[in-house]
Amino acid sequence: MSVGVAILGSTGSIGCSTLQVLARQRERFRVAALTAHSNADLLEQQAAEWRPSYVGLVNSGKSEAGRGKGAECLVEAATRADVAIVVNGIVGAAGLEATLAALRAGKRVALANKEALVMAGELVTRAAREGGGEIVPVDSEHSAVLQCITGRRPTELERLILTASGGPFRTWTPERVAGATVEEALRHPTWRMGKKITVDSATLVNKALEVIEAHFLFALPYPAVEVVVHPQSVVHAFVEFVDGSVLAQVGFPTMELPILYALTHPERVPDAGARRFDPVAAGSLTFEPVRPDLYPAYGLGRAAAAAGGTAPAAFNAANEVAVELFLEGRIRFGRIAETIARVLDAHRPGDAGSLAAVLATDAEARRLAREAACS
Ligand SMILES: NC(=O)c1ccc[n+]([C@@H]2O[C@H](COP(=O)([O-])OP(=O)(O)OC[C@H]3O[C@@H](n4cnc5c(N)ncnc54)[C@H](OP(=O)(O)O)[C@@H]3O)[C@@H](O)[C@H]2O)c1
Repeated sequence: MSVGVAILGSTGSIGCSTLQVLARQRERFRVAALTAHSNADLLEQQAAEWRPSYVGLVNSGKSEAGRGKGAECLVEAATRADVAIVVNGIVGAAGLEATLAALRAGKRVALANKEALVMAGELVTRAAREGGGEIVPVDSEHSAVLQCITGRRPTELERLILTASGGPFRTWTPERVAGATVEEALRHPTWRMGKKITVDSATLVNKALEVIEAHFLFALPYPAVEVVVHPQSVVHAFVEFVDGSVLAQVGFPTMELPILYALTHPERVPDAGARRFDPVAAGSLTFEPVRPDLYPAYGLGRAAAAAGGTAPAAFNAANEVAVELFLEGRIRFGRIAETIARVLDAHRPGDAGSLAAVLATDAEARRLAREAACS
């Protein structure tokens, strides 16, 4: 019997890569549900090819009634009886409620939507514990960690070092970076991804989000989650064990392997279509410390992580608003970090143990960010 997979955000970069992976695994998996936000044309094409039992479009973008099903369709898709695995490829806070619902319903969530775990790590991990669901990371760095630690006891784990490409501005001066254009920020050197995460990679906010994600996924204190800049994106993470031994997972940058592994973990299955690794083609591998002057938003994210409670939710919301304004051409690149800093200055971290508290923080941080960004 094939395993039913729901893909939330099937029209995005992760969603499309997931369908490419599934096209080579048709005997193991079947697409049971697909959702998108507003790209009705691509969603229709995907539905025609994969014939899922459920298709949900949040917002058709057209005025006629009945085309969009609203955000409820995400929870519906994620909790269906014929779905065992939910690939959450939604971008931003919009993915949170479906992740919670899927975990409470005992599903495996192959989680690309890191923002959900950042804003509500406590709630998400509790939903998994209580509902019997399981969170398996899709992010390549966290997949690398999982691949290195599978079969080991948690007490054997000492430290993680996540790698960051450094984005397109790694060799720029901070002054030049502050005035970077949208086109320049979207020119990622090693990965092809959606616009929001590409900008997050240029600010290194993405890596701060990943540090918080790793803290919740692997139950490690923040000082034990380090980051190093590795421009070739070949080593995805290092894992240090208590005896000082270090394992790393390597491969050419592609999301297809971490997606497949999230579906099959702890098993590995043959994938004839996977690009094979070649150390000579990979060339020299280099590693550099993160430069705080070049990536001020990364430090802000780490500070929010250390503050804990609702601070990561405020950090995430402020960043989402600032990135949106930057992509719309309304603020300069340097303003993203400035906006986050102003929101975090104003935020008094509270308890993040309830959905109401997290959503209230999210809404307030968004309001403050809009005010701060444009003033
Ligand atoms: N791309 C990568 O290689 C990569 C790697 C690691 C982690 N991730 C993470 O994966 C997530 C998705 O990234 P992506 O690059 O695939 O983004 P993307 O290309 O922008 O795709 C986002 C998907 O989510 C849907 N969506 C957007 N807003 C939504 C909303 N409010 N409600 C419901 N659905 C919504 C979009 O639908 P429409 O197409 O209809 O707008 C689209 O299907 C992010 O959290 C990102 O950090 C991505």
